[in-house]
Amino acid sequence: MNIIVCKNYDEMSLRSAEIMAEVIKGKPACVLGMATGSTPIGLYRNLIRMNKAGEISFKDVTTVNLDEYYPIAPTNDQSYRYFMNEQLFDHVDIDKAKTSVPDGTAADPEAECRRYEEMISLLGGIDVQILGIGRNGHIGFNEPDAKLILDTHVTDLTASTIEANSRFFASEADVPRRALTMGIGSIFKARKIILMVSGAEKKAAVSALLSRTLDTNFPLTMLNLHPDVTLVCTADVLD
Ligand code: PGA
Repeated sequence: MNIIVCKNYDEMSLRSAEIMAEVIKGKPACVLGMATGSTPIGLYRNLIRMNKAGEISFKDVTTVNLDEYYPIAPTNDQSYRYFMNEQLFDHVDIDKAKTSVPDGTAADPEAECRRYEEMISLLGGIDVQILGIGRNGHIGFNEPDAKLILDTHVTDLTASTIEANSRFFASEADVPRRALTMGIGSIFKARKIILMVSGAEKKAAVSALLSRTLDTNFPLTMLNLHPDVTLVCTADVLD
């Protein structure tokens, strides 16, 4: 695993954006795997700046997002579709028809997960996937459990994730209890992974990753099996 230690959030965001920009420049019709949450917001700001400066174009880019709450409407300002539009897609030259987020309104969520997995395969996988982690070491919404699921699936959110994400909702009761998420195998369809982590509250999860063991109670430890992961983190994560 490559590790890039940054002095703060802004440097982590810039370094991650530079890696992504290289992928886009090298393959203009690439497939980018996107993530939501507070971690990648600075990365997206940098990509918008590079796009406006003419350094990169999203004209031929396709994107797939990791996950979405279920049920949730795309017009809900807490949905991940809304987040992506607001944080990136509305500000760059991307064709929104080429952007995918699991459908939080699907009548049959299991069928939607099958469709999503198939779509990732038909795209030929993902050129670079951005990942954040939860305090509990989740990636996407692959929560700590005795078993981890390979394909895109419907999952129940853990109490820890509901509590962590309640900061964005009017109250904890408003946080959806389920989500549609890429599985560990879907994430492994990415040829390259950028794992972004900042904040001392994520130290335990990163320490599990760097212990070079596999622990389904820390889903991010599965990334030890992937051949091309770059951890871009702030120094406080490693203290
Ligand atoms: P955060 O969430 O970036 O808001 O900390 C990341 C995650 O839960 O995967």
